[in-house]
Amino acid sequence: MDLTGLEPGYDIPALPGMAEAEIHTPCLILDLDALERNLRRMAGIAAAHGVALRTHGKMHKSVDVQKLQQEIGGACGVCCQKVSEAEAFVRGGITDVLVSNEVTHPAKIARLAALPRQGARVSVCVDDLETVAALSAAVQAAGTELVCLVEIDCGANRCGVTEPAEAVALAQAVAAAPGLRFEGIQAYQGDVQHIQDHTDRAEAARASIAKARAAVDALKDAGLPCGTVTGGGTGSFRFEAASGVYTELQCGSYAFMDADYGRIEDAEGRRLDAEWENALFVLTSVMSHVKPDRAVVDAGHKSYAIDSGLPVVFGRDDLSFLGCSDEHGKVLDPEGRLKINDRLRLVPGHCDPTCNLHDWYVGLRGGRVETVWPVSARGKVF
Ligand SMILES: Cc1ncc(COP(=O)(O)O)c(C=O)c1O
Repeated sequence: MDLTGLEPGYDIPALPGMAEAEIHTPCLILDLDALERNLRRMAGIAAAHGVALRTHGKMHKSVDVQKLQQEIGGACGVCCQKVSEAEAFVRGGITDVLVSNEVTHPAKIARLAALPRQGARVSVCVDDLETVAALSAAVQAAGTELVCLVEIDCGANRCGVTEPAEAVALAQAVAAAPGLRFEGIQAYQGDVQHIQDHTDRAEAARASIAKARAAVDALKDAGLPCGTVTGGGTGSFRFEAASGVYTELQCGSYAFMDADYGRIEDAEGRRLDAEWENALFVLTSVMSHVKPDRAVVDAGHKSYAIDSGLPVVFGRDDLSFLGCSDEHGKVLDPEGRLKINDRLRLVPGHCDPTCNLHDWYVGLRGGRVETVWPVSARGKVF
């Protein structure tokens, strides 16, 4: 992206070439080495299981991160949740986009139906017969085609049909609808992802995979074999990858990691952030240290989401994060080590909504700014 004319400190937190100490805080920074290691690792895991990896762009909302995932991270395309998000990825040059969600409003359906004209293969989830008819009418008007996945509720009580017979009825409707192509199912179980204990998580994943399998079998019996069975997130992907049912993973958070995912355990009882490195941080500066054992930093919850807990101070066992207000963060500093303008890296509790609070990622390597990437789909929640 051309950053010419953008003013550091006003338009943008940093420019390429700056030293880390020159970056305007608070802002999002990416440890590019850690990010690239995470991407390569997941590419290897997906390849070893013979499944595709469609990385979830709702997490980073960045065309540049997605391009890196496709270049070095084995990604075949992107998932996103909203039509406007899909548009941001397509406008940025991503040509295979799945809206892993239902699209129902006529104006949104019209925009989605127009999107393949920009040169992209566009897929969408369906769980309602009237919506199938509306999608078909819209693609015929637009002269395009949409790929459809029937969404299965495999335990999260969110979108999706619960009975295999309902999945068959929807798939038959899609297959008969001009301009729509039946491709398979989406079965994503969000409630499994953050179960801390590995045995409990494995058991919950087994139950959700059984529901996906039942739908796949019913569709096959009805003469509608699934080319794609997509789902899985950072907490569950190993189960879906090894299931023999899923053909595609939709992991998002593995690329950046966050404090909440970091706490869950793998099969050996290790924290998940032992395997998936923290690559995303909110860089913050100490702005007050009047009380000897407390520092105040310049990042409050306008800079990180707190729906999944407070941020954690990275790499500093001597400090702990106490609380925050809009623009202030309170850090316990029992030994009084921090000084005004010292910098801290905060690992946000939840990466997805944290990224949506910022306009830019500052990518660092070896203490210098290497890249400044826009959060391309920031605010694209419609
Ligand atoms: C449909 C769907 N697929 C995949 C993901 C990716 O999950 P994670 O970021 O936990 O890897 C999500 C996250 O909420 C999702 O909603």
